[in-house]
Amino acid sequence: MLRCALMSPSAKRTCPWEFIVVRDETKLRALSGCKTYGSKMFDTAMAGIVIALDPTLCDNTWMADGAIAAEHILLAAAEQGIGACWCHIYEREESEAMVKELCAIPADKVVLCAIALGYPDEEHRNYELDQLKYEKIHNETYNSHNSR
Ligand SMILES: Cc1cc2nc3c(=O)[nH]c(=O)nc-3n(C[C@H](O)[C@H](O)[C@H](O)COP(=O)(O)O)c2cc1C
Repeated sequence: MLRCALMSPSAKRTCPWEFIVVRDETKLRALSGCKTYGSKMFDTAMAGIVIALDPTLCDNTWMADGAIAAEHILLAAAEQGIGACWCHIYEREESEAMVKELCAIPADKVVLCAIALGYPDEEHRNYELDQLKYEKIHNETYNSHNSR
């Protein structure tokens, strides 16, 4: 999973990310309280990966680079039968301050998200192929819709 993260693409291969692996139970439970909503998966998560980035390493692509790395982790986890969920931190000032303190992340880094990892206790509702929003796909111009 972490190898996948380290191999994910970034603009000009700046690799602006740092991955903080959290296994300590006290820290994981603290992550659960980093937001009032949307962080409760850390109540039972077995591990977490906090993604912090250095925005000075690239002009304006750090967030895309971090998001792609996060997605690499999510896909690698799924392939290994591990449940993973993105907990959004960026621009949640209090949450970011809390996560930074918890993981001793330097002030000049930006925390994008924390990925919770564990064994899922529920089945995720997958998309149905025939119910995808095919109208989101356009042919050549925005106002021309794709026919299936
Ligand atoms: C950018 C982004 C931010 C997200 N933030 C949160 C979050 O803070 N808390 C949470 O429980 N899930 C969060 N998620 C997970 C989504 O809510 C959703 O569970 C995930 O996309 C999988 O569900 P789906 O297959 O129905 O899209 C986030 C996902 C993305 C892509």
